[in-house]
Amino acid sequence: MKSSSAGLKVNFESSCIRKIKAEEVHEVWSLEAQSYPEIPAEHLPIERYTRAQRDAPELFWGHFGNGKMTGFIFGTRGAGSKWKYDSMFKHDSEGAVAYLNLVCVYPELRRKGIGSLLVKHWVTYIEENHKDVTKMCFICEDELIPFYKQLGFTYVGPSDVSQLGPTQWYDMECRGPAYPKDAVNALI
Ligand SMILES: CC(C)(COP(=O)(O)OP(=O)(O)OC[C@H]1O[C@@H](n2cnc3c(N)ncnc32)[C@H](O)[C@@H]1OP(=O)(O)O)[C@@H](O)C(=O)NCCC(=O)NCCS
Repeated sequence: MKSSSAGLKVNFESSCIRKIKAEEVHEVWSLEAQSYPEIPAEHLPIERYTRAQRDAPELFWGHFGNGKMTGFIFGTRGAGSKWKYDSMFKHDSEGAVAYLNLVCVYPELRRKGIGSLLVKHWVTYIEENHKDVTKMCFICEDELIPFYKQLGFTYVGPSDVSQLGPTQWYDMECRGPAYPKDAVNALI
């Protein structure tokens, strides 16, 4: 699937959003490790990604500029009403809730619109293809609450997730539709 580059502040000769392949999982994992040096490595095992790519490939996407990965987003589905640490490890294809487990962009390519594009793509894909999903949820740090609010998510409150280092995390959710129909059409 080709992505629209509308809104991107970086110009690639070619860019796309497509599903992550099995052989790209290691790069994804290493990008995450660079982004979260404060989280104990044993809490961020590569198995989350190998399982998600195998079990929920339609919720695992990368953005690519000139053929190189610039960032990724991955999710799973389950039945719990809030994001839990375990949400990253298992996928129930009939679960009514979609968990956004992580969106991550290479540090040198941040603040250029790629993260927003990945979230919009993921949300729109679920709204259009997983119609039995009743809400999407995840946790984020306080500084990113405005980033997600502008992407259609609502602040819920402090999260009780404790495995991801000393950071206080906050629950966010989206009950959709997140974007006006014409904005969705412009993206895909
Ligand atoms: C969070 C992240 C994915 C954002 O990706 P990005 O490509 O830089 O985001 P965008 O360029 O689409 O940002 C759009 C807007 O969101 C806001 N925003 C983005 N990152 C922000 C940050 N770290 N702090 C505060 N606001 C931020 C800004 O308003 C920004 O617009 P501006 O650059 O014109 O000011 C990226 O910073 C990242 O990979 N961080 C490390 C991993 C992480 O924290 N992931 C989120 C887990 S919940």
